[in-house]
Amino acid sequence: MPDRPHRDFLAIPDFSRDELERLFDLAERMRLGLYQSKPMAGKSLGMIFLKASTRTRVSFEVGAWQLGGHASFLSSRDVQLGRGEPIADTARVLSRFVDAIMIRTFAHSDVEELAQYADVPVINGLTDLLHPCQVLADVLTVRQHLGSIGDKVVAWVGDGNNMANSWLNAAYRLGFELRLACPAGYEPDVRVLARAQAHGKVIVTRDPAEAVAGAHVVTTDVWASMGQEEEQAVREKAFAGYRVDDALMARADRQAIFLHCLPAHRGEEVTASVIDGPHSRVWDEAENRLHIQKAIMATLVGGEPLS
Ligand code: CP
Ligand code: NVA
Repeated sequence: MPDRPHRDFLAIPDFSRDELERLFDLAERMRLGLYQSKPMAGKSLGMIFLKASTRTRVSFEVGAWQLGGHASFLSSRDVQLGRGEPIADTARVLSRFVDAIMIRTFAHSDVEELAQYADVPVINGLTDLLHPCQVLADVLTVRQHLGSIGDKVVAWVGDGNNMANSWLNAAYRLGFELRLACPAGYEPDVRVLARAQAHGKVIVTRDPAEAVAGAHVVTTDVWASMGQEEEQAVREKAFAGYRVDDALMARADRQAIFLHCLPAHRGEEVTASVIDGPHSRVWDEAENRLHIQKAIMATLVGGEPLS
């Protein structure tokens, strides 16, 4: 098992701006096939899932293997955590077996508790509050297609959810302009928003057209996230004016890219013409989950330096 102290990745600000830049550079080398090291040789990742996943599960599992390590998929349907074993006990026990823990769950405080009691790095694979690995993959995609993010305008259209909150954290650390268009009652987390607004160029508007005007990146997410399925009908009404369609994309910069963390609901938050159209970079975005998470694991588990 690794010696303390170890580092967790629960939220984007857990890395400094310089460290994030180096993390992106490392992920880029991985994407280009220029990194062949196996810093996880002999090491294991435990992956706890209390919600469904396609991308997160497969990219962490394949990524750990590509770095020379091993990953165990721990579904809440099968592990004792799902039957009420305390998070703290799960953290202490898993720390005796594995070298890092990735968790996808509901309450963000559960991930913080896991990290508090684990003796190994904990990585946030999505909570109701944040989805940090995904937004780092999104920023990597912006770098890949637009060269840089610091001088770009990012427009978020839709729910002030875990993705919106992580975009706010990215703007807080990286300093790009972020405009969020959210309906009343669906704004981002108050504290995450206040910190980003205190440090950067961040606005929240009700008007998607205002948010998207001249933007270089247009992004959205489902109207009802995992755990909110029973709110679908209410949310469909609230989000009716928040669909990313060709008319909205036409307001963005001519070279603008469209991003979506997936899974997408064509005809709800985005039209098929946009997500399957010329501005869309969603498949590169999905691929970049693999590269950025390998960079995170190489750093936190494999000792790859970021300085
Ligand atoms: N974007 C994302 O996290 O996808 P999964 O839910 O499939 O992991
Ligand atoms: N906001 C979505 C993201 C899924 C990857 C959810 O939490 O369900």
